[in-house]
Amino acid sequence: MKLTYLSHSCFLLETGTHRLLIDPFLSGNPKAPVKPEAVKCDFILISHGHGDHVGDAVAIAKRNNATVISNYEIATYCSKQGAKAHAMHIGGGHDFPFGRVKLTIAHHGSGYQTEDGFLYLGNPVGFLITTGGKTIYHAGDTGLFMDMQLIGQMNRIDVALLPIGDNFTMGIDDAAKAVEFLKPQVAIPMHYKTFDVIDADPHEFARKASATGARIEVVDIGKSFEF
Ligand code: NI
Ligand code: MN
Repeated sequence: MKLTYLSHSCFLLETGTHRLLIDPFLSGNPKAPVKPEAVKCDFILISHGHGDHVGDAVAIAKRNNATVISNYEIATYCSKQGAKAHAMHIGGGHDFPFGRVKLTIAHHGSGYQTEDGFLYLGNPVGFLITTGGKTIYHAGDTGLFMDMQLIGQMNRIDVALLPIGDNFTMGIDDAAKAVEFLKPQVAIPMHYKTFDVIDADPHEFARKASATGARIEVVDIGKSFEF
């Protein structure tokens, strides 16, 4: 299993048989290490409707004939734009050719900004992805919530991808508490330093969160973590 960090909340997960792209914010992202035209994938997971998560999803999906997996509102929006899409919603899981995806709650917004104002794109979500005997939790954008304890009780999480940037999501201390709740084998910080307002230090997070006993991996942009 190979997980490559493409900056912000964007990861490419290569399972050996499939390529899953999560929250592909590449165009207009000052930290993006690749152009959207260069990304190859089979599935695209979108956590919520904000531009820094929907990103280039529709264009990448169409070019790759990839399937978007998201909440009902975002999946419907993407299919209206001409992309293949599979709609789900919070609490629901589904078996895909690569494995299983379950949508979790996330406490955040999900409006998509258009020229005419905000388009309603449902509730934000996180993802539990189970593939090749491993479970990956991508929290999306969220504040800390108590149900992370439940997610940790009901799933053996191998890798948790957690926002630490503060302002829009959990900051470092809350993300460290999330690690305590989720009990993952490994936690990887995301959603930091893309913009000045989320200028959190991932190594401070690593110091604080490693007190929980979890292994914290700060993955540099463009680099991969294998597990
Ligand atoms: Ni957001
Ligand atoms: Mn965001």
